[in-house]
Amino acid sequence: MIRTVYVNGDYLPEGEAKVSIFDRGFLMADGVYEVTSVLDGKLIDFDGHVKRLWRSLAELEMTSPISEAELLAMHRELVVRNGIDQGMIYLQITRGNPGDRSFLFPDASVPGTVVAFTQDVPNMADAPAAKTGHKIITIPDLRWGRVDIKTVQLLYPSIGKMAAKKAGADDSWLVDEQGLVTEGTSNNAYIVKGNRIITRALGNDILHGITRAAVLRFAAEAQFEVEERPFTPTEAQGADEAFSTAASIFVMPVVELDGKPVGTGKPGPVATRLREIYLDEMRKAAI
Ligand code: PDD
Repeated sequence: MIRTVYVNGDYLPEGEAKVSIFDRGFLMADGVYEVTSVLDGKLIDFDGHVKRLWRSLAELEMTSPISEAELLAMHRELVVRNGIDQGMIYLQITRGNPGDRSFLFPDASVPGTVVAFTQDVPNMADAPAAKTGHKIITIPDLRWGRVDIKTVQLLYPSIGKMAAKKAGADDSWLVDEQGLVTEGTSNNAYIVKGNRIITRALGNDILHGITRAAVLRFAAEAQFEVEERPFTPTEAQGADEAFSTAASIFVMPVVELDGKPVGTGKPGPVATRLREIYLDEMRKAAI
């Protein structure tokens, strides 16, 4: 089946979709994105993703060429046209095509470019990796200072994923100059000590994860204590459990950090339970 993608109002076969070489997303990484997961053909936490999208655009003084109602209709249309039961929808909005290369932002008459496409992941809720857990390495966090804005500058996260792959691991967690974990390359990072879930507080140094917000809410409802503070890789190695969250992995147990087992070295009960609660609750609320 040839995938149908969305470009600036049109639904096209993926091979026919085109964006200008002058697009600022292509030349300057001047754009923002969202990844929304799909379960049972429905959108998970769409509202949260749109709210963060508006925030990212506002922080970069960009206006959206598409309304919230149009975004929702387009996401649903892509799910239907591509027959997605489980998977993701990638949405990107760039500052558009000013017709040449210039560092200065074009004036507001230049419309942004909107593209979106589906990624089919048939066993996303039941991912085998969730049963074995992720092995993580740590690397320095060398990203720019506004990673709370979900920009398409993903070179360093890509380098982080490659470093993990070369080391025989699944992903990297990033460590700031104080030796504290910020987050994963494309996910938020947590440790568990007894009944307490510890994760870095929101700031400019992490992405404000939509999955994070939901998981912390469910954790509090399930009588876990939530402590928002940073932790070191050493503290994580000595924790009972660790896990990561993102729209692409939901709640993913972490079983090894820099070659040392975390807890028993197997997915822990807290991460496993939070994954179950997250999937149950979000499926109920999906639209
Ligand atoms: N990444 N931190 C970073 C750096 C991320 O890129 C992501 C998401 C998250 C988790 O955010 P959320 O829970 O809203 O998905 C945290 C997406 C999934 C990606 O780039 O594929």
